[in-house]
Amino acid sequence: MDVNDLNPAPGAASRLWRGLGGLAFGGDYNPEQWPAETRAEDLRLMAEAKVNLVTVGVFAWARVEPVRDAYDFSYFEKVLDDLHAHGITADLATMTASPPPWLVHEHPEILPVTAEGAVLGPGGRQHFCPSSPVYRERAAMLAERLATHFRDHPALGLWHVGNEYGCHIAACYCEVSAAAFRRWLRERYDDVDALNDAWSTDFWSQRYASFDHVRPPALAPTFPNPAQQLDYMRFSDQELRACFEAEASVLRRVTPGVPVTTNFLGGLKSVDVFEWAPGLDVAAVDCYADPHDERPHLAPGLVYDTIRGSRGGEPWILMEQAPSAVNWRARNAVKQPGRMRLWSWQAVAHGADAVMFFQWRQSRGGAEKFHSGMVPHAGADSRVYREIAALGQELASVPGLLGTRVRNQVAILLDWNSWWALELDSHPSAGVRQAERLLDHYGPLHDLGVGVDVVPPSADLGAYALVVAPNLYLLSTEDAERLTSYVAGGGALVVSFFSGIVDQHDRVHLGGYPAPLREVLGVRVEEFCPAAEHETFAVRGCGALEGAEGVADLWREDLQLTGAEPEFVFDSADWAGRPAVTRHEFGAGVARYLSTRLDETGMRAVLGRAVAEAGVRPALQGLPAGVEAAVRSGDGGTFLILLNHTGDKHEVRLDGEWTDALDPADARVSTVALPPAGVAVLRAG
Ligand code: GAL
Repeated sequence: MDVNDLNPAPGAASRLWRGLGGLAFGGDYNPEQWPAETRAEDLRLMAEAKVNLVTVGVFAWARVEPVRDAYDFSYFEKVLDDLHAHGITADLATMTASPPPWLVHEHPEILPVTAEGAVLGPGGRQHFCPSSPVYRERAAMLAERLATHFRDHPALGLWHVGNEYGCHIAACYCEVSAAAFRRWLRERYDDVDALNDAWSTDFWSQRYASFDHVRPPALAPTFPNPAQQLDYMRFSDQELRACFEAEASVLRRVTPGVPVTTNFLGGLKSVDVFEWAPGLDVAAVDCYADPHDERPHLAPGLVYDTIRGSRGGEPWILMEQAPSAVNWRARNAVKQPGRMRLWSWQAVAHGADAVMFFQWRQSRGGAEKFHSGMVPHAGADSRVYREIAALGQELASVPGLLGTRVRNQVAILLDWNSWWALELDSHPSAGVRQAERLLDHYGPLHDLGVGVDVVPPSADLGAYALVVAPNLYLLSTEDAERLTSYVAGGGALVVSFFSGIVDQHDRVHLGGYPAPLREVLGVRVEEFCPAAEHETFAVRGCGALEGAEGVADLWREDLQLTGAEPEFVFDSADWAGRPAVTRHEFGAGVARYLSTRLDETGMRAVLGRAVAEAGVRPALQGLPAGVEAAVRSGDGGTFLILLNHTGDKHEVRLDGEWTDALDPADARVSTVALPPAGVAVLRAG
């Protein structure tokens, strides 16, 4: 592989967007599951629904290479011809997400092995060991043949490599993986004593005399070495990325102008999106809101803000969402009327230039036949299809949105290394889970009407008025210094408990927690005091937050103040008056510390004050609770998108001059009436 082939092709993504001419709309298209006649109806319905981009061939390896080397792309050539004839662009998959039966038959060693030592068989999908040279080689060969075959096809607009890397197989524990891990460690540490030092192997007699003696952290009698586990997560992520790169480099060599992407699974822990994203031409994510959630739009919002943050605010692709229900939860809720539209516009409001679904036509057989489709089992005469077609038409009516950007003043920090380390076993509390703790911060900011970029600690923080670091357990000294200088230079920082605790090898920063942030936060902690499962603690605001109330749980710390002032104190009998949340003026900025988990009321009070002090302005003042507003602006104009996440009607008064971008008459609007789950898209001027 030539390393130059790993770099995204400049301008490749813009060619895709220019070709589409407006927001992309479509989904996974799997015509191979259907008789040939169905395609005519598909194409007619796609035209009606204004579909302009479809993902083709994700699980088609066994069809295009039914036995070794017997490549036959004629079926998909016809599909792409038909798509092109209907003005639809293909996001052509490299078809490598599910190895075909012949490959497993000839090379059973490609099958993944669990930490418990079980071999995972074929019959599902993603049944390959990420380190398998055989899998990588056969996948790259297929990508090469495919790219060579389709390089000049006019329908080809985007390459879709693999599918949701890491979704089913985050890591493999086979002997091939073990050998690859040893090679990876040799490269990383060079000297085995450096590894001993990094892994603290004098603990429990784990000192290695040679790299050859190292094994993956498979099932062990008790907690396997945490630093070894952490390195295994890094290694496994990089092995998955190497699978992607093996294919992407072929595509970039054979079709240099065609953009390359892969679809991340939103909220997935095993794949470090921030490390992968620079190697794509455009970021794409799959996100499956759970309509049974109390606030089903929050977790997807966080996913969208992360994917946008992964490429510096560039437009991104919502590659998959469900038209209605999924089939893989224990109880699969449908999207009630209007919700699919609302949540699709939510993605656009968070910067998506493509709204796509899994999948076009609901399967008749196979493991996903009860997963909704844009064309359901009932056919086009159905609520789901009607809502889909209406959404496609609506999105097509606002081409000016294409390429416009969301700009936010607040960043939430997320670091995959810290996530991996935070959730290792043998910790003070098993309750500190990254995804939930992120939402503890994200939800109240959302309620305050404040848009957020989710970025890594290494991002350019100077661009933000407020930076929030939820439970950033692993923090390098350099990143801690960056946070410190950010505050010294006038920034506002909010840090939550169990942050800045360990270095990159999961070794504790000494001298009182959170050692590398003590100076900027003006606090010192000697001991963590995790709460029992249902234990709660009353807290109350003080100083500028006098009168504010809240309830805390999960975690407490006996905070010593070394410069900070309390903003919230505990109000429970045992800890009355001890600081729970603090504020520290440091240099030209302010740093807050939350030593406990506050409920939403408490969080809104603390973050509300931080937001106000930092001069952060919501997109629109005075919005009714549950109504979200977002602004996108750029060459195509300035757009205000209003989303009513509630089941009630609301009225929103606007300042300035706006027209209704969804109204063909371009009506001027000063007040917007939003029905339950309603959406409004307004253009400035
Ligand atoms: C995604 C996957 C699709 C489909 C979908 C169902 O994770 O990429 O192929 O399985 O889930 O929700």
